[in-house]
Amino acid sequence: MSDATRLAMPALPHAPGDRLEVVSTWNAETPYQSWRPQILVPDGFRPSAAPVTFVVVNQKGGAGKTTTTVELAAALAAMGLRVRVIDADHQEAALSAWLLPQYPEGSPRHSLRSVFFDECTLAEATYPTRFGNIDIVPAGLDLVRVEYERPIGAEGALAAALAREVEEHGKPLYDVTLLDAAPSLGLVTVSVLTAGDRALVPLGIGGLDLKGMASLHRTIRVVQNKTNPKLTVGAVFLTAWDKSGFARQLAERVSLDYPDAMVAPVRRSIRAAEAPIAEQPVRLYAPESTAALDYSQSAGLLLEWGVTA
Ligand SMILES: Nc1ncnc2c1ncn2[C@@H]1O[C@H](COP(=O)(O)OP(=O)(O)O)[C@@H](O)[C@H]1O
Ligand SMILES: [Mg+2]
Repeated sequence: MSDATRLAMPALPHAPGDRLEVVSTWNAETPYQSWRPQILVPDGFRPSAAPVTFVVVNQKGGAGKTTTTVELAAALAAMGLRVRVIDADHQEAALSAWLLPQYPEGSPRHSLRSVFFDECTLAEATYPTRFGNIDIVPAGLDLVRVEYERPIGAEGALAAALAREVEEHGKPLYDVTLLDAAPSLGLVTVSVLTAGDRALVPLGIGGLDLKGMASLHRTIRVVQNKTNPKLTVGAVFLTAWDKSGFARQLAERVSLDYPDAMVAPVRRSIRAAEAPIAEQPVRLYAPESTAALDYSQSAGLLLEWGVTA
């Protein structure tokens, strides 16, 4: 697909007053009624320098992983960064169904599975989407074969594939790579965590979401100790934010667990739920929506040069 026919991610139409306030600590004194969603950027938070690999992870389904992957990709693409998203969820392959890889005619269709089984390089499994600056490594149901056939070196396969690409081309092909993990902690997810620089954790607002955080915490610890000491948690996205006492408690709790992570609310928006049906990022489908704005603002804070679009 030629660059000229790809759809560019738009700038957003919001007024400055629509943006979320950025704070460095939660103010526990603020009465509930006047509490507004704020982005917490603690003093210990360090934005990432491109090139960077983010892993969007939470073993709970429906937490907002795929939405977070797509909207951060859209926001970063709007800033002019070259972004690759990688679908690592065989159960849903929702990312591939949302962003639709544009396969060239007459060549074999590779996917993330092909990379695990050494059938092609990561670059050969990467396809353009219909959207400018966003390419995708798709997944299908057959990615599950990695879990039971356990190809040699699967745990480190993605990290090795990314490193090999840099060696071959002399530089990373993309400014930002976003990995959309599966809602399980199997071999593919461990491989994804092993390849990442920073974990981004989307979190729904419910008691079970909070409980699930403990096991994610343990998994990240194990990966840090055994396969990827450089992994840190960069941000937690509260993906179904509403004005409730529980949302506030959750935000406070998360910032205790991850004191150096950004904690970013994403306001609930029906447009976010509709966008996958339209096969477009929310940013393009409904640029006026709060979800597009909230992700855009967080995306700007995640990277070192802090540009927001
Ligand atoms: N900010 C939001 N407002 C409303 N609905 C949302 C929002 N973020 C995600 N959703 C919806 O929540 C559901 C789960 O999100 P998804 O990104 O698929 O989670 P996961 O990838 O973790 O399973 C989807 O139907 C999605 O459209
Ligand atoms: Mg998903």
